[in-house]
Amino acid sequence: MGNATLHFQIHISIKPFTMFLLKTWRSTAFSVYGYLNFTKSGFMEHSKKFKSEDMQTHIEGKNCIVTGANSGIGYATAQGLASRGATVYMVCRNKERGEAALSKIQSMTGNQNVYLEVCDLSSVSEIKSFASRFSSKDVPVHVLVNNAGLLEHNLIKTSEGFELNFAVNVLGTYAITELMLPLLKKAAPDARVITVSSGGMYTAPLTKDLQFNNSKFDGVEQYGRNKRVQVALTEKWAEMYKNKGIGFYSMHPGWAETPGVAKSLPGFSKALSGKLRTSEEGADTVIWLALQPKEKLVSGAFYFDRAEAPKHLLFAATSGSHALIDSIVDNLRSFSSLTS
Ligand SMILES: NC(=O)c1ccc[n+]([C@@H]2O[C@H](COP(=O)([O-])OP(=O)(O)OC[C@H]3O[C@@H](n4cnc5c(N)ncnc54)[C@H](OP(=O)(O)O)[C@@H]3O)[C@@H](O)[C@H]2O)c1
Repeated sequence: MGNATLHFQIHISIKPFTMFLLKTWRSTAFSVYGYLNFTKSGFMEHSKKFKSEDMQTHIEGKNCIVTGANSGIGYATAQGLASRGATVYMVCRNKERGEAALSKIQSMTGNQNVYLEVCDLSSVSEIKSFASRFSSKDVPVHVLVNNAGLLEHNLIKTSEGFELNFAVNVLGTYAITELMLPLLKKAAPDARVITVSSGGMYTAPLTKDLQFNNSKFDGVEQYGRNKRVQVALTEKWAEMYKNKGIGFYSMHPGWAETPGVAKSLPGFSKALSGKLRTSEEGADTVIWLALQPKEKLVSGAFYFDRAEAPKHLLFAATSGSHALIDSIVDNLRSFSSLTS
């Protein structure tokens, strides 16, 4: 047997085995780290270091957009911002659910400056219509919270032909952020974009296979990949808009008991019943990021429980993958037919 053949045989048998070990390590490390930190008890432990004055800032006159604001963490975020005087634009895909959430927030907070914008973020064309409608208001956007997201287990294509998780979590986040940049620039030097990622990103390196074309579809893995893209995109935007007065932050809310988790991960939700965070606890760091003086924050960083957190787990071999972000941004720009 020639050297070339031997090398080929070793290569094809070692690679899948190494990948298997790596994947097993990533998910084991994630589960252990998550159980210790992401549950309610993790929040209780970390909250011992929280400073109550951090959350006492009032932000009257600041315009905040929150996507997916009718449910779970997005609802708690919109309510938390409204209760501190902000003008809040709730971007929801369903008019009835959006209106119900809106009137609840108005009556709970007494803030009438809360508005509903209906937009399905799985559709680039709807995002473009929303952006042009909203831009005609010509108001500065001080805070954009990219919260809307989902974990869909089945392979579903949107009417525009994109895999659904990717369409909402990645392409939707990319398109709305890019299209809001002119209004964010109006709020410079203190505009910020907060993207609700997930600890699920620890299990996935960045990959160019954005729509899971190269292997059998796995919704949980796709969700982790999507959330990794959000973290890398945040890093990229921070680099692009350095010194331009817009801060970009990604964050993990912890494991919170929300309608989304109950629907997408019923087994997980049941197994950790009573141990998950509330939606308000999940939204705590989002609100904290919106309220802190920008000098206290690091643009491009990933936050968890009011502190900067690592973007990679030890020995998970995910960090080198971020070098792919430029070609991913090129793809997102072309998928959404955006020129900037
Ligand atoms: N809960 C957790 O433990 C956890 C952990 C890590 C990260 N996260 C992240 O936190 C964010 C909020 O999740 P959640 O747990 O609060 O779930 P949720 O209760 O299901 O809330 C998700 C929100 O996103 C909206 N949404 C979904 N698809 C949309 C679309 N195509 N267009 C517009 N809005 C859409 C939903 O609207 P509908 O009500 O109409 O469906 C809902 O308002 C997500 O990005 C999620 O990945 C959550």
